[in-house]
Amino acid sequence: MSKVTKAVIPAAGYGMRFLPVTKAIPKEMLPIVDTPTIEYIVRECVDAGITDILIIVSANKNSIINHFDRNFELEYKLKEKNKLKEYEEITGLLDKVNIYFVRQKELIGLGHAVLCAKSFAGNDPFALLLGDDLWRCRKPAIKQLIEAYEEVDSPILGVKQVLLKEVSSYGICKTVDDEKLTKVIDLVEKPSIDRAPSKKAISGRYILTPDIFPLLETQERGAGNEIQLTDAIKRLSEKRDIYSYEITGKRYDIGSVVGFVEATLDYSLSRADIKEAIQELINEKTKK
Ligand code: G1P
Repeated sequence: MSKVTKAVIPAAGYGMRFLPVTKAIPKEMLPIVDTPTIEYIVRECVDAGITDILIIVSANKNSIINHFDRNFELEYKLKEKNKLKEYEEITGLLDKVNIYFVRQKELIGLGHAVLCAKSFAGNDPFALLLGDDLWRCRKPAIKQLIEAYEEVDSPILGVKQVLLKEVSSYGICKTVDDEKLTKVIDLVEKPSIDRAPSKKAISGRYILTPDIFPLLETQERGAGNEIQLTDAIKRLSEKRDIYSYEITGKRYDIGSVVGFVEATLDYSLSRADIKEAIQELINEKTKK
């Protein structure tokens, strides 16, 4: 079994849930406190031992590419002003991982975006991380999945229980039992409440294998008239075992405004340098 050292991060979408800011700014560049959301995802990969990341972009996403490049003028100025902490912050990450980019030419679904990673993946398994799902965990969410993959040598879907009223926002999977790591027997993308086979929602983290690509190449459009990854994984599950793994940690849906604000609050309250000031502000503003 090959080790999982590659990761794919789709970042091509329009960000329609976050207009008007996403008209000209990629949603992946919106900051939680002072760090673009996509940087948290890249750091999660690095903390999990990933060495190569492919980010799938589209037109209007050049600021993502710039963010993961050197900026020599800024580095020079930071050094000149002896701002070494800031210098380390903007250069350190880039030394730890290779980041590649590819453009998705037509925005016709997550399945189609993942297909853009075919040559990057080659014959290797790869981690897939969706930018709308931010996970705060003791052990990085994707590391939990990589370890599960090493145990079962099969594709894994990271899942989390959601409320019944939320099932139609997710890919939902039915499993043989309620164990943390267990086999998937059915999958439906964004089912109506009465068609949902369970409340186990795919939560933005996957370990996939290259046999997904031929299925994506022939995948017909599904929910939302898009080429859905969930539909291709369902077809793959007819040929081989697919597992779900219940991730331990807190998940934020930062593609929604409320989830984004919650993440901003939690992340700022966990930062030693600003925690007290933020707590004071909250107390003041919530005082009756
Ligand atoms: C995508 C997937 C869906 C998954 C969700 C959250 O949907 O298609 O299966 O449950 O991400 O990770 P999206 O939110 O991009 O519409």
